[in-house]
Amino acid sequence: RQQAKRVVGNWKMHGRLAENAALLQSVAQGAATLQGGVQVGVCVPSPYLAQAQTLLSGTRVGYGVQDVSAYTHGAYTGEVAAEMAVEFGATLAIVGHSERRAYHRESAEVVAAKTQRALHARLTPIVCIGETLEEREAGTTEQVIGAQLDAVLAVLSVAESARIVVAYEPVWAIGTGRSATAEQAQEVHAFLRGRLAAKGAAVADVPLLYGGSVKPENAEELFRQKDIDGGLIGGASLKSTDFLAICEAA
Ligand code: G3H
Repeated sequence: RQQAKRVVGNWKMHGRLAENAALLQSVAQGAATLQGGVQVGVCVPSPYLAQAQTLLSGTRVGYGVQDVSAYTHGAYTGEVAAEMAVEFGATLAIVGHSERRAYHRESAEVVAAKTQRALHARLTPIVCIGETLEEREAGTTEQVIGAQLDAVLAVLSVAESARIVVAYEPVWAIGTGRSATAEQAQEVHAFLRGRLAAKGAAVADVPLLYGGSVKPENAEELFRQKDIDGGLIGGASLKSTDFLAICEAA
């Protein structure tokens, strides 16, 4: 399997206009000189989509949102529809991040519906799945992430499934500084690859990103693994030198 790596930043709830401008400009500038075909993206807080559109249009850096509503419109106070993000030129939407699942009680069914909505709006959903430390220690990692992935695939056709991106993010590695080892990540990615292939041959090549304490120091080894097609980067995406170094490693 040969495909361009993808590196996507997830800013989470960080940033303000002035600091975003500096960060977006240096990421766009740095990305322009990257060798190879790495695809670079950033998922910003929704109020800053217009700023991303202004500063990233015509650059090599794509952008998007960190969540979308499971609905197209209606009485859903505080929600942002996928179609709204598209109006600002977004092409990416993170769905099912573990912080949404944990703090906003998003069920597997809600995550599946959000994935559908993103696809219908022509956004590329980056579907996040991952086990907690307790689940890993209990030996249930494959069961947990298999069920999270299956819930999404169950509501999609084969053609739709082929248009998603999956991010494996072990909850215990997110923001902790403790990344999964390259071997641990590859083992899970190989399992996920098999699960995707079972949906249909066209789905086997869905990009599988790893997320959880990716830094310039560990990116290269992670990205060298057979089934790791790139990364979803939290903390290190807020510093352009670190984020670009990770892109460089891809
Ligand atoms: O979506 C990104 C992940 O939650 C990883 O965050 O790189 O800060 O560990 P982190």
